[in-house]
Amino acid sequence: MKTALVTGVTGQDGSYLVELLLSKGYEVHGTKRRSSSFNTSRLEDISRELGHRPDNLVLHYADLADSASITNLVRDIRPDEIYNLGAQSHVAVSFAVPEYTADVTGVSTIRLLEAIRASGVPTRFYQASSSEMFGSTPPPQNESTPFHPRSPYGVAKVYSYWATVNYREAYGIHASNGILFNHESHRRGETFVTRKISRAVARIAEGFQSELVLGNLDAVRDWGYAPEYVEAMWLMLQQETADDYVIATGEAHSVREFAQAAFARVNLDWEKFVRTDARYERPSEVDALIGDASKARRVLGWKPQTSFVELVNRMVDEDVQSVRDEKAGKLVRIDI
Ligand code: NAP
Ligand code: GDD
Repeated sequence: MKTALVTGVTGQDGSYLVELLLSKGYEVHGTKRRSSSFNTSRLEDISRELGHRPDNLVLHYADLADSASITNLVRDIRPDEIYNLGAQSHVAVSFAVPEYTADVTGVSTIRLLEAIRASGVPTRFYQASSSEMFGSTPPPQNESTPFHPRSPYGVAKVYSYWATVNYREAYGIHASNGILFNHESHRRGETFVTRKISRAVARIAEGFQSELVLGNLDAVRDWGYAPEYVEAMWLMLQQETADDYVIATGEAHSVREFAQAAFARVNLDWEKFVRTDARYERPSEVDALIGDASKARRVLGWKPQTSFVELVNRMVDEDVQSVRDEKAGKLVRIDI
C-alpha cells in the first residue's frame, strides 16, 4: 500500500485528490488547520456512507508556517508521495496579507523540500504551481513561457516553482510542478469568481438574493473541472522522471461570459442582476490566461473532458440544489 501526505486536504483540490488516492488504495495523511468551527465539510462525501472518516485517511493538525509540524510529519509518515496543495490561495487577499502569503504560499515549499531531503526517504513531491505565475505574459502560455507575476500570490508561487526545480536539480529529488490553470467545481471556495457567481445565481433564482456585485468583467480565464485536474497531479508523480507540466483546457472565456451562461441556466438575464464595484478590482490584474497543455497530453496522456458550458451548468445546478436543501432543512453536517 502506498502512503501519501497531502497538505491543504480541506481545500477544493485536496478533497478531490483524497477521493482519488483512496480509490487507488493509498493510505492518505492530510494536514488540516485548527479552526474554531468545522473546516472539513469538503471531505464529507467520503465519510457520509460510513458516518465517519475512512480508516485509511488520517488527518493531522499542522500549519505550513510552522516548520516543526511539517518536519515531524515527513519524518514520522515517511510518505511515498507528497502533494503540496496548502496555500493562501486567494489572489485578491494576497494584496491584503502579502507577507503571510509569501510565507505560507512561498517559503513553506522549502520547509517541505528540506524535510524530504533531511529524511533521506525517496519521497516524490508535487508542487501546486499556478498559471498566475505567467501574469502579464500574453497567452497562450506553456511550460516555456516566461513568468511575470502580478500579485504577491503569483510572486510566492514563482518562488515555490523554482524551489521545486532547484531541489530536483541539486539533490535529485523527484519533484514536479503542475502549472494548473483555473479549475472549478461546486466545492470551489465561495469567494472565487465562478463560485461567487453560481451561488448568487442559485440564491437569486430561489428568491434569497437580489443582485450580484463583481469586479472586472473583462478578465479572461481558462476554466476547467477540478476532479480532472487532480488526476493530472497523480499522473505526474507516476512518471519515471520528474518534470513540469501545464494543465489547462485551452478554451478561454471572460468573467462576463461566465455570468451570462450561469444566469442563462436558470433562464434569467444576467444584465438585470449584475453590477460592478471597484472594491472587487485588484491593484494589478491578470488580463488573460489561456493554457497550452499539449505536453501533458503527449507525456501523461491527460486531456480535459468537461466543456465550459457543462462546467457552468453543473456548478449552477449543484448550488440550486444546495439552496433548496437548505430551504427544506435537509443539510446535515458531519465533522470528520
Ligand atoms: P483552496 O480551496 O483555497 O485550499 C487551500 C488549502 O490550503 C486549504 O485546505 C487551506 O486550509 C490550506 N491552507 C491555507 N493556509 C494554510 C496554512 N497556513 N497551513 C496549512 N494549510 C493551509 O485551494 P485549491 O483551489 O484547492 O487549490 C489547491 C492548491 O492549488 C493551492 O496551492 C492553490 O494555490 C493552487 N492552485 C489552484 C488553482 C485553482 O484554480 N483552484 C490553480 C492553480 C494552482 P483551510 O481549509 O483551513 O483554509
Ligand atoms: N474573486 C473575484 N471576485 N474575482 C473577480 C470578481 C469578484 O467579485 N469580479 C471579477 N473577478 C475577476 C478577477 O479580477 C480575476 O481576473 C478573475 O475574476 C478570476 O478571479 P478568481 O476567481 O479570484 O481567480 P484567480 O484567477 O485570481 O485565481 C485562481 O486561479 C489561479 C490560477 O490561475 C485561484 O484559484 C488561484 O489560487 C490560482 O492559482
